[in-house]
Amino acid sequence: MPSLTDVRFAEIAQEVACDVLTKSQDDDNILKLQEISREFVSDTITVPTKEMNAYALRASLGDDVYFEPSTALLEAHVAKVTGKEAGLFLPTGTMSNQIALRTHLQQPPYSVITDARAHIYRMEAGGTAFHSGANSIPIIPDNEHHLTWEDIEARIVSGTDVHVAPTRIIALENTLNGTIMPQKDVLEISKNAHTRDIIMHLDGARIWHVAAETGLSMKELCDPFDSVSLCLSKGLGAPIGTILVGSKSFITKARWFRKLFGGGMRQTGYMVGCAAYALTHNFPLLPRVHALARRMQQGLEELGVGILSPAETCMLFYDPSPIGVEYWEIVEGAAQLPQPIKLNGSRLVMHIQTSPQAIEDFLELIRTLKEEKAAAGWKPENAPPKKKTLFRDVYVKAVRPA
Ligand SMILES: Cc1ncc(COP(=O)(O)O)c(C=O)c1O
Repeated sequence: MPSLTDVRFAEIAQEVACDVLTKSQDDDNILKLQEISREFVSDTITVPTKEMNAYALRASLGDDVYFEPSTALLEAHVAKVTGKEAGLFLPTGTMSNQIALRTHLQQPPYSVITDARAHIYRMEAGGTAFHSGANSIPIIPDNEHHLTWEDIEARIVSGTDVHVAPTRIIALENTLNGTIMPQKDVLEISKNAHTRDIIMHLDGARIWHVAAETGLSMKELCDPFDSVSLCLSKGLGAPIGTILVGSKSFITKARWFRKLFGGGMRQTGYMVGCAAYALTHNFPLLPRVHALARRMQQGLEELGVGILSPAETCMLFYDPSPIGVEYWEIVEGAAQLPQPIKLNGSRLVMHIQTSPQAIEDFLELIRTLKEEKAAAGWKPENAPPKKKTLFRDVYVKAVRPA
């Protein structure tokens, strides 16, 4: 085989080389922070700051499939804070929930109970069936706010009838759509589930918000559960990561499944550095975020806008039909403001980088649209009749009529 010449190698190296930075990257990044301060789409859009990056870049440099010191410290820390034996760093909340279910569930047939609105049931691409071969039992809470033991008890599958798939897990979500599950209901469900040998999992992507709002400790909130998935990249503002916590044997097996799922990562130090920074510096910002969400709700209510799901923590869902305005008109109007605002539909999420001015500008836009409708002859009696549905879905997308 002829040896590769320096010239040929230089040609290949040139083909391989890559520059993802624009000429104005530093300025673009400053603009991005300004942009997301006016986006109500999600709390996943928050961006790492210079301070976060400076701290994170000093984290250790190990390979996490073997052993990564900073990552092991973060896992142990979150396990301790939540009162569990061990923790596992994962790239996403979806992978964390799915690995938790797969680790708990061993021999089908079985079923998993969730709230009908739960992320695990609705937003994980049918993962419960795909990864664990489990039947899902979605339940609509009778009180339209949170599941109670009464809702669940009637739907638990048990016994030895060969037609059925016995319930092995109850997977709760707290917060769910930003609302808080009363702890007394969590405790009642957990006590009854454990008496029946049913495992309790919590999708606690935003459980931090519950601690920040109620004053209950993370341990108190996690005690009723055998496993808890806690996201770092949502309300806390880290760029990536979720920690799954549980017993030592559960996490040992989950670590194995993480590799099997293709989620064994290498130099995770930078990522957990961001997460540790977020725990220390961003968790304390959550009460301010919740206050912004309440201000948004108060302003909307003063304008006569309907509230589909209240601002108990960082988000709310609204309905502009009582003032004759449609979602698409708001979305388009917001995009055309001198300083645009971005949103999708009924869900409004506040985050640690939300600008209070964006909320006031949004309310002003709705006031203007309301006045325009009234001037064009719209009256409250023109409001469309409320549709009677079995399940009031609070997620409404903004769609401009064709
Ligand atoms: C409640 C809840 N659980 C789980 C997830 C999944 O997280 P990820 O997007 O990291 O997979 C989300 C995502 O927004 C979520 O809101």
